Amino acid sequence: MLDKAALMIKARKMFKDVSDLPTIPVIVSRVIKLLDNHDSNPDEIADLILSDQVLAARVIRVVNSPLYMPGSKITSVKRALLYLGFRSVREMILTSFFVDGFKRQEQPFDMNVFWMHSFGVGSMSRRIAELVGYSDTEMAYLVGIIHDIGKVFLGHYFKEEYGEMLSTINYTGTTTYDAEMEYFGTTHCELGLCLAQRWNFPPVYCDVISHHHTSSLAIEDPLLTAIVTLADFFCLAYTISDSVAKATKPDRSEEYAWSLLKQRSHNPLPGNLGDFFFLLNDEYVGVFQEVNQLFNTMTTT
Ligand SMILES: [Fe+2]
Ligand SMILES: [Fe+2]
Repeated sequence: MLDKAALMIKARKMFKDVSDLPTIPVIVSRVIKLLDNHDSNPDEIADLILSDQVLAARVIRVVNSPLYMPGSKITSVKRALLYLGFRSVREMILTSFFVDGFKRQEQPFDMNVFWMHSFGVGSMSRRIAELVGYSDTEMAYLVGIIHDIGKVFLGHYFKEEYGEMLSTINYTGTTTYDAEMEYFGTTHCELGLCLAQRWNFPPVYCDVISHHHTSSLAIEDPLLTAIVTLADFFCLAYTISDSVAKATKPDRSEEYAWSLLKQRSHNPLPGNLGDFFFLLNDEYVGVFQEVNQLFNTMTTT
C-alpha cells in the first residue's frame, strides 16, 4: 500500500536540506501573472517583456520559428502577443525558463533526452486533450512538459546517488519510480511537488506533477492527470528513448487513467488502450516534428 504521506515527509526533508535552488526571475513571474489575466493590456505586457532583452528576443525568435509560421516576419513583441495569444506566450516563457534554468546543470543523465521526453509528453498531452475534447489543451501541453521536473532536482542535488540508481536500473529492469522509492524513500513526484509549490505553480500543475504515476489519487483535475499519465506511458512505450527516460517505465496508474479518460471523453474512443495507442501512433510523426522544432528553437540562444 502506497503511503503518500510518508513519501511526502521524506521529500520535504530532502528538499529542506538543499540550498541554492533556482528561482523564477521576478520579471518572468510578473509577465506570467499579467498573461494569466485575460483583461490585461497587451501594451503593458509588451513593455514588461521589452524590459528584459533576452526575454524579448526569445519571444520574437519563437514566434518566427517554423512552429508558428506567421505569414510575414513579426518584429514587435506586441504583434507577437496578438498573433500567438496570451496563453501561448505564457507557455512559451515558462517553458524557456525551465530549459534555461536547468540547462547548464550537470546531470547524471542526458539532459537532451530528458527534454525531448518532456516536450514529447507535452505535445502528446495536447493531442490527447484534443482527442477527448478537454477544454484547456494549452494547459495540458504545459503540465506535460513539466511533469518530471522532480528528476532534475534529484539529478542535481543527489547526483551521485541518482546516477548510481539509474545504472542499477539498467541491469535490473525495475522502474525509476520503484528504484527511487527504494534508494530515497520518496520519488520524483513528491520532490517535483515541493519544487512546484516553492515556485508558486497553480494547484492543478502541482497535482499533476505529484500524481502522474498514481493517477487515481489526483484531486484537482483527475482528467488532466489521466491525460498526462497516458501521454507519458505512450512516449515511453512507443518512442525512442534511453537513459533516464527509458528507465522510467510506466506502471500502475495507466489502466486507471484509461478508464477515466473513456468515462470523461466528449468524443468516442477506441475500445481498449492498445487501440487508443495505435491511434496516437498516427499522431506521433507530427508530434515528433513539433518537438524537434520547439527543442531547437528553445535551446539556441
Ligand atoms: Fe514521472
Ligand atoms: Fe515522464
